Amino acid sequence: MDSNKNTKLWGGRFANSSSTITEKLSVSVHYDSRMYKQDIRGSKAHAKMLNKIGILNEKELEDITKGLSEIENEIESGAFVFSSALEDIHMNIESKLTEKIGDAGRKLHTGRSRNDQVAVDTRMYLRDEILEISKLLNNFVDILVDLAENNLDTLMPGYTHLQVAQPVRFSHHILAYCWKLNRDKKRLEAVKESTNFLPLGVGAMSGVNYPNDREFLKKELEFDEIILNSMDAVSDRDYILDFLYFGSVLGTHLSRFCEELILWSTSEFNFIRLDDSVTTGSSIMPQKRNPDLAELIRGKSGRLNGNLFSLLTLLKGLPMTYNRDMQEDKEPLFDSIDTIKLSLEGMIEMLSSITLNKDIMKKAVYSNFSTATDLADYLAKKGVPFRKSHEIVGSIVKFCEETKTNFFSLVREDLLKFSDVFENDIVDILSPENSTERKESIGSTAKAEVLRQIKVLKNS
Ligand code: ARG
Repeated sequence: MDSNKNTKLWGGRFANSSSTITEKLSVSVHYDSRMYKQDIRGSKAHAKMLNKIGILNEKELEDITKGLSEIENEIESGAFVFSSALEDIHMNIESKLTEKIGDAGRKLHTGRSRNDQVAVDTRMYLRDEILEISKLLNNFVDILVDLAENNLDTLMPGYTHLQVAQPVRFSHHILAYCWKLNRDKKRLEAVKESTNFLPLGVGAMSGVNYPNDREFLKKELEFDEIILNSMDAVSDRDYILDFLYFGSVLGTHLSRFCEELILWSTSEFNFIRLDDSVTTGSSIMPQKRNPDLAELIRGKSGRLNGNLFSLLTLLKGLPMTYNRDMQEDKEPLFDSIDTIKLSLEGMIEMLSSITLNKDIMKKAVYSNFSTATDLADYLAKKGVPFRKSHEIVGSIVKFCEETKTNFFSLVREDLLKFSDVFENDIVDILSPENSTERKESIGSTAKAEVLRQIKVLKNS
């Protein structure tokens, strides 16, 4: 045999073998081998379907199924030797099957193309990973809801522009993240839906010259729907984009949360203490406890965004239908899956071992005029037009700053210099505890509203 003869599974029309650089660029088995389970499941279903439509006999089906199970065991035990020359997981498995069972293995690819094969494998792989990610996300939200529930009465300053704004419950602040994550859960559910469409059975792009039973494949592989256009089936990667977008938004939420954990654990804020297990020391500065985990998760949101943009850019100029560029969809997808799981595991670890420095939070909420709006509203409720009362309180703050005092050291006589409507009940107005309880609007930081959120979140 000509030693230069092409030995690929698709080598029939080729006189010469691929060059080294072609092989180097083509190979994907070092990353797509992680879809081996789905590839085997898809092949077993395809074989069963071929048997059903009379293309494989019972013996051939049995050999294929048995052979594929053996291959699965070999991959799991580490005995399987992957070959880069065989490019991807699909050809590695098919070639091994043929080596084991001969011609029945060669029949497996009847009525199928790698184009619909890779599409179905990737959808099944993502579907399985979505379940794992969904569990982590639920677990994380549960931890946050518990944290809120266990610290219902802990107050802290709420911020806008990172300047003290109004007193809030710590629980309310944490629940703000729960709502964002709850929307992430919904987005993930939607990704699950767009992923669960069956592409298998259409062959390379126009359909196949066999009565492929796609309804059977749909049931066998537990898909919700069949993709009704063969060209769409092999060219659609929207579901990966949906997933990457989900990852990008989730990553953004986690990054914002991490930013706050980093800020709150500085010696300047000192609102929280992250556990030793999630902080690291410095090789030179002995006093340091660095929030590396939070910083890394904040940093990882960058690659989640990058992965989304990789795929958007990859797809935008591609003509119908399959183009080999599309092999490049998997690394961003896999990287986002891994990054999301790692980040969520890190968040779970950090938040389940967090310590709150409640006294320091309380001190912060008692300083910095956090109840200035309450004071302005007090005057407004006594008939002073709000714009006027805003100005009066502004002058009181200015006075306190100049005299190095604060709201709590003022006596009624001081206040009467600014307005004659002040009465003795003013002390109640200035307390941050009362401030939170005075909030009357739905969704406020008042205890009843925070409890309402917890209830709704627990049932969602
Ligand atoms: N490894 C390939 C991919 O991920 C499989 C499909 C190859 N199809 C082809 N026509 N060369 O896209």
